[in-house]
Amino acid sequence: MLINKWVKAKAACSNLWHYTNFKRFATQIKNSEDILETPNYEPDKFYEDIKKAYECTVTPSLKLFYNEPLLIHKGRGQWLWDHRGKRYLDMFAGVATVSVGHCHPKIVAAMSEQASKLNHVSSIYMHPHLYEYANKLISKFQGKLKVVYLTNSGSEANELAFLMARLYTRNHTVVSFKNCYHGATYGTVASTAISTWRYPFIVQPPGYLHAVYPDLYKGSWSGSKCRDSDVQVSENKCNCRNGECIASEKYFQQFEESFQFSLPRTHSIAAFVAESIQGVGGTVQYPKYYLKKIYDYVREKGGVCIADEVQTGFGRTGEHYWGFESHGVEPDIVTLAKGIGNGFPLGAVITSPDIAASLNYALHFNTFGGNPLACVVGSTVLDIIEEEALQQNAYTVGTHLINKLANLRSEFPNVVGDVRGKGLMIGVELISNPETKQPLEAERVLDIFENIKDMGVLVGKGGLHANVLRIKPPLCVTKEDADFTFTVIKNALEMHEEKYRNN
Ligand SMILES: Cc1ncc(COP(=O)(O)O)c(C=O)c1O
Repeated sequence: MLINKWVKAKAACSNLWHYTNFKRFATQIKNSEDILETPNYEPDKFYEDIKKAYECTVTPSLKLFYNEPLLIHKGRGQWLWDHRGKRYLDMFAGVATVSVGHCHPKIVAAMSEQASKLNHVSSIYMHPHLYEYANKLISKFQGKLKVVYLTNSGSEANELAFLMARLYTRNHTVVSFKNCYHGATYGTVASTAISTWRYPFIVQPPGYLHAVYPDLYKGSWSGSKCRDSDVQVSENKCNCRNGECIASEKYFQQFEESFQFSLPRTHSIAAFVAESIQGVGGTVQYPKYYLKKIYDYVREKGGVCIADEVQTGFGRTGEHYWGFESHGVEPDIVTLAKGIGNGFPLGAVITSPDIAASLNYALHFNTFGGNPLACVVGSTVLDIIEEEALQQNAYTVGTHLINKLANLRSEFPNVVGDVRGKGLMIGVELISNPETKQPLEAERVLDIFENIKDMGVLVGKGGLHANVLRIKPPLCVTKEDADFTFTVIKNALEMHEEKYRNN
């Protein structure tokens, strides 16, 4: 009986999937006859061979999503196709990376043209595209942020930012928040504070401190105005006046304590680094004014402030081009990656001439950083965001989606604990008990996650307990895509409710 209902629900959703997607297919992806192609692979053999290679040849610590991992061979805009020709609405964008859409025709054209002219010269010679791109990228920043170093990834950008901060301040400690993610290299993983990413037996490098992070949902303090976004964590009325947030004050006192107990009293910090909204940690937003207070405090202690914009940059959060702008702060160093290259390996560190000059203590060299192809891609991404008003789209579509998803908290109060985020950076925290806010059991989260995929939508998961659905699509998604995503998530929650009703 239960199974019957489940199958029916699935069938209904699958019709919905075909109808909605087919309609949109016709209107949105014009002149792309080739999208209709049936993939000319031998699906089973091809699939099994590749899966085996992933299991046996590629490092075993790479974990694939889904019981039957997806084999993706084609992408366009916000769509991906698997080896069977099934189409998915990509609401995760290769982990918040495909900013302007898969295989954007303008990027394909720019890459092909550049690839036929010049791919690589290394940083020992000049080429015109670095000059062109550096100026264009710097024009997106204000004040003292006038120098750019190009890298190949976010980890590399953060590693370089820590190095510059240490050389500039002549201090060593890098302070980050618990629940943050800043990369997978030796230094950046030491700054990362989510246990999933930390290896046993390895002596972490010295000079990293993890300070308390203000989790408005699970932490001790929150009110009805704490978040700088449409959806608040709490119905609790608060009496904070304009420009004030008591939760922020309380968390700041805790932050200050980490310093008082763990660090020397004077000039002790090289840098404080934070994402503008925690990404891998499960889309965690800080209370208003919080980062501003921390920036002031860190500077008093002789440190510089690093904004990790790897996920929150390039208009993803909607209201601003850079996530840090919504906190009213001016970082000393900004690190960029992911969306900067729409999937092409590219990263950047932006800083002031003074801080940049600190690298002159030695030679600094990066074989691929700033190569002609990367610069052309990066430059085209900036143009597309502007021409297609993608930041505005992130704001409009993201706000629409987050407000719809917020209603799921009252529809499924025993499973949906919190909905948060800004623009097209959204998290839905799944819980097993609204009082204790315990995470939903992994097996149930996976069930929901699988069903969302089966109905044609790809989302991510994150947070310390991997119980937060992460929605970070290409910035070109439409309101229809948002509605479809909402319907699919709602259906998956209904299926979950049905399946576990008596458990
Ligand atoms: C906020 C943040 N910083 C840094 C990184 C590291 O970037 P990469 O994987 O390109 O090294 C990531 C990757 O997920 C990230 O989310």
